[in-house]
Amino acid sequence: MPCEGIEATSVCLDDIQHSSRYLPFDGMKESDPGRENGRYGIIPRVQEALSELRGIPVTDKSIFLPRDLPLWEEAKGFLDVRNNDEHTVVAYALARALLVEIPQADESVVLPAILLHDVGWKRIPEELLLLAIGRKPTRLDLVRDHEIHGVEIAREILERHRPQGVDIEAVLGIIDGHDTVKKAKNINDAVVKDADKGWRTTPHGMRTIAGWYDVPLSEVILMLQERSNPLMLTIPGRVLAEANTAAVDAELMIENYLGHGPQFKEVKPRRR
Ligand SMILES: [Fe+2]
Ligand SMILES: [Fe+2]
Repeated sequence: MPCEGIEATSVCLDDIQHSSRYLPFDGMKESDPGRENGRYGIIPRVQEALSELRGIPVTDKSIFLPRDLPLWEEAKGFLDVRNNDEHTVVAYALARALLVEIPQADESVVLPAILLHDVGWKRIPEELLLLAIGRKPTRLDLVRDHEIHGVEIAREILERHRPQGVDIEAVLGIIDGHDTVKKAKNINDAVVKDADKGWRTTPHGMRTIAGWYDVPLSEVILMLQERSNPLMLTIPGRVLAEANTAAVDAELMIENYLGHGPQFKEVKPRRR
């Protein structure tokens, strides 16, 4: 299996570099047909590839695949602590985006694993949750505890639903160690780990973490640069994390160059 037993960073990077699906940006020429009409833009490519890989129409706006919706309904009751439910929705979407760029990974393992990976936090006393994470965690033992509880809860959910085509033991093998083991056991594990940690660099992740600790975004950026982003395991995951972090860091510096901050600071919620 790719990444097995080796520092995951180098092996996963090699695997991905040899994937023909990872080449269109480097290999594209000015004269390539379709360039001028935007066919090679990232969004159409992602939409086409998602549609092709998952067999769902590109107009489908749902985050969760139909196969995983019953799992989500079960998981929700375990994810309603420390914004884990919101985290899971965004991390699942990131996993789907990473799967497009990393076709060697198996979505039927990655997606159920990212959906269920944090259900174990529900069994940790709520007042201790923030001590287990952040820049200077003092209760790292709880991180391991939530993985052990998570495997137990996820096993019960998966064995009851038995989603078609899902290798339950492979999913549980990823949940077990998703935070405490930094190396990836295989490419599926690497994608789940990158989607999980990649969330921290998203606008939602940064706002949420800043809110937990009541700190400015600059502190979250420092945590990402020092502790979190170096752990990213795949090229697409690392690009995602570094680019998101750099963009938000740059936004905080707009004032240095213009004498005022960004004009638009809030976004309207999605139209229903
Ligand atoms: Fe976790
Ligand atoms: Fe997580």
